[in-house]
Amino acid sequence: MSRRFARLLLALCAAMSSTLAAAQDQLVDPNTVRPSREAGRTANGLAMTPPMGWNSWNKHGCKVTEQVIRDTADAIVANGMKAAGYGYVVIDDCWHGDRDKDGFITADATKFPSGIKALADYVHAKGLKFGIYSDAGRKTCGGRPGSQGHEYQDALTYARWGVDYLKYDWCSTGVRNAEEAYALMSDAIRATGRPMLLSICEWGNNRPWEWGAKIGNMWRTTGDIRDAWAGPVTYSLGMMDIVDKNEPLYPFAGPGHWNDPDMLEVGNGGMTDTEYRAHFSLWAMMAAPLIAGNDVAKMDGATRAILLNKDVIAVDQDTLGMQGRRVRDDGDHEVWARPLADGSRAVLLLNRGTTPAEIAVSWPEIGYTMAMASDVRDLWSGTTRRLREGRFSAMVPPHGVVMVKVTPN
Ligand code: GLA
Repeated sequence: MSRRFARLLLALCAAMSSTLAAAQDQLVDPNTVRPSREAGRTANGLAMTPPMGWNSWNKHGCKVTEQVIRDTADAIVANGMKAAGYGYVVIDDCWHGDRDKDGFITADATKFPSGIKALADYVHAKGLKFGIYSDAGRKTCGGRPGSQGHEYQDALTYARWGVDYLKYDWCSTGVRNAEEAYALMSDAIRATGRPMLLSICEWGNNRPWEWGAKIGNMWRTTGDIRDAWAGPVTYSLGMMDIVDKNEPLYPFAGPGHWNDPDMLEVGNGGMTDTEYRAHFSLWAMMAAPLIAGNDVAKMDGATRAILLNKDVIAVDQDTLGMQGRRVRDDGDHEVWARPLADGSRAVLLLNRGTTPAEIAVSWPEIGYTMAMASDVRDLWSGTTRRLREGRFSAMVPPHGVVMVKVTPN
């Protein structure tokens, strides 16, 4: 090869790579902040996409039993949830009995007669992962023994039982420092050698988005969700109240560490199916953990169609890991966007009002040029429209959403 030809080839490569870099830059919405994914900031390498599963609390509260967990694991396999990605079955509060004479935690023998190890084995045999709940204080929120002073002992017990996921709550913690308390449990888990996803649950009181990434995999950003569209009642919050608190925290989410706006209420009966579609779509836009909280053994067709919507789940699970955000707020009418790994965007039109409304979005609002042609796929109806220029609008039902994926073509 002649020198001149080699130089020409080199120049060509450089030009190509700078064009490529420019193209890649365009893939990321210039209006959004990149996810916090610096090397070494993930706690344990788990949850590179938001965790998916089921948790007993929203439906069963303190009445959870081993039978409930077995039936749920069976149902998750039979009804397609496992295939759709719901991998963790988590027992929330109230599984605990007393500590034994050496301080080891035991299970409530009436509700969990076979013990937790046998239950974890059952869940694992179904190809699912198994999660459990404890608390950084002396007592859990349900008044059972907490882990304070027993962190290493409890982590060891969980590892022996085969636990894959720990939700760690914040009741009865007094003046404990939250970061220190969660770091202690994170270290205790690491010392067992068993990988366990750590779900930080201190309700956003101590700004866990600022320190949670190096300690755990997700952190609650608010108080508990209530099965209602909106309206806080004492400690609990309506679904839309949670959205308003969780949305501004989008810069803090990324692979391995997610904002957690609490578990899903889809199917629990307090909202309409339209509202539940909005709830599920918003959680997907916010890259939230998708932890179902309904009776998955007895759900109706509409609930099933929501929880199993593969397109919406794919948005939630997108590997770029950027949390979507509100790009326009016209009071009752909002436009949200989330950049996806393949260069497309998930876009949500949200109608918070009580009458149907036409909501429009133009491409510059979501980081594209007006002239860009695209395919716009409606993720709830499954229909695709080919657009030659950058404006899309749709009628959005009250308390509802239209959610689309915009792919440049
Ligand atoms: C707290 C948590 C809930 C649930 C209950 C259990 O309120 O935020 O998610 O775990 O405790 O008592």
